[in-house]
Amino acid sequence: MRQILAALLLGLSLAACSNDPSSAQQQKPSATAPVMPADSALASLYASTCMACHAAGIGDAPVAGDIAAWKPRMQKGMPTLIDNTINGFRGMPPLGSCSDCGEEDFRELIEFMASDPAATAGQESGS
Ligand code: HEC
Repeated sequence: MRQILAALLLGLSLAACSNDPSSAQQQKPSATAPVMPADSALASLYASTCMACHAAGIGDAPVAGDIAAWKPRMQKGMPTLIDNTINGFRGMPPLGSCSDCGEEDFRELIEFMASDPAATAGQESGS
């Protein structure tokens, strides 16, 4: 846990140093360097649930940080997305396999996955 926190803090300080917009554009989500929520409680929830499918796009799951993939989903509206997560949606099991998650957790997890990884702290900044 301590190591995860240190990694998050390192990511935060690296991200703070690279305010160059051209380098931000090169940051693409990838399966080898999964994006993580900045909040450590949310990060551990994400890592033990949604990440299993949404980091690499298992079964056509929209990949976390891939704005284009999430855009048509977000257009359904957050209440629909939360409902679909709770009830299951095509390839996704009910509750996204997170039996401990509440609606508020799902909202935060969905907002994180649909957001730009360059704007979140856990992102590795590369060069
Ligand atoms: C077992 C794999 C798996 C897990 C775990 C999982 N998902 Fe998914 N999720 C999917 C797949 C596959 C889709 C795409 C379904 C489709 O559109 O065919 C999806 C789609 C979604 C969608 C879009 C639904 C829509 O209406 O378009 C949301 C929102 C979502 N997941 C949220 C979550 C959240 C939040 C978690 C963690 C609590 C999670 N998922 C965990 C596989 C998973």
